[in-house]
Amino acid sequence: MVRNVAGEMRDLESEDFYLLSGVEHGMRFSEWVDRETLTEYARLDEEEVTHRLDRCERRGLVERKTMQYQGFRLTFEGYDILALHTLVERGTIEGFGAPLGVGKESDVYEVKSYKALALKYHREGYTNFREVQREREYTADHDHVSWLYTARKAAEREYEALETVYPTVSVPRPIDHNRHAIVMEKFEGVELSRATIDDSQAVGVCDLILSELADAYKEGFVHADMSEYNVAVAESGVLLFDWPQAVPTAHENADEFLERDVRNLVGYFKRKHPGEFEETPADELAAALRADSFGSVRSFW
Ligand SMILES: Nc1ncnc2c1ncn2[C@@H]1O[C@H](COP(=O)(O)OP(=O)(O)OP(=O)(O)O)[C@@H](O)[C@H]1O
Ligand SMILES: [Mg+2]
Repeated sequence: MVRNVAGEMRDLESEDFYLLSGVEHGMRFSEWVDRETLTEYARLDEEEVTHRLDRCERRGLVERKTMQYQGFRLTFEGYDILALHTLVERGTIEGFGAPLGVGKESDVYEVKSYKALALKYHREGYTNFREVQREREYTADHDHVSWLYTARKAAEREYEALETVYPTVSVPRPIDHNRHAIVMEKFEGVELSRATIDDSQAVGVCDLILSELADAYKEGFVHADMSEYNVAVAESGVLLFDWPQAVPTAHENADEFLERDVRNLVGYFKRKHPGEFEETPADELAAALRADSFGSVRSFW
């Protein structure tokens, strides 16, 4: 688990951030950044580099490895604090709050601004080696791909999908992003997996979610990671979140992903509310949804 670095923000000085940015810069070229290059990358003199490295290492923001050379790299905490610093400087974030969700592939915290927002740090490259391998193909010209890159790409993909489908689709309003972090509005409600839904409401709720998927398709995106864990249900309606895997509808596998999303969702409702749903193949539902002849899925059940 990655430690919450928000409390350390006020202990750090500008020079610490220069040093961290210097290490970040070096990590574009190698996993472990040669100590000798840091005066240039961080624009600090020798003595200052030594001092700042020491401070950052003690705080767990960088780590060291001794090889043919003395190498340094950012920890996830170091990367988090760089993103947080930028978001605070820009005025996007004014205060830090409680965890909203801590998982394998992300850490989400409440943050304060003009209203309650959510900050999601992506962790993809850290935990998912396969993801790193996939990204490797994407950057065949680089011979090394760091988790920084993988996590940043995931955040960019998620932010782009949110910006495209909001507000047509009910998703958290995107506010800002930097590096591997995105800031969005905080939503209310509970995950579908934990929501109490009566049999009599099940078709209606399923219908609402499928309509959102149809709207997202119209806006050019398939979520591609749809499940009862990525939908929030509240009195006011449903909301779809967690979009880093979203693919444009032009993607060669988009239709396959849409079918899988529909199958996951309808499968969940059928398991929970047997007897409420007719047997309708997911591919037919997905086709209706794509063709915009979806209307109400009630016609299907
Ligand atoms: N905008 C938000 N407002 C409120 N809570 C949020 C928001 N975004 C995410 N969360 C909370 O954080 C949890 C994890 O978010 P999300 O599903 O986007 O990430 P994830 O990568 O799936 O994480 P995990 O590895 O835990 O599944 C959500 O289940 C939800 O409880
Ligand atoms: Mg999720």
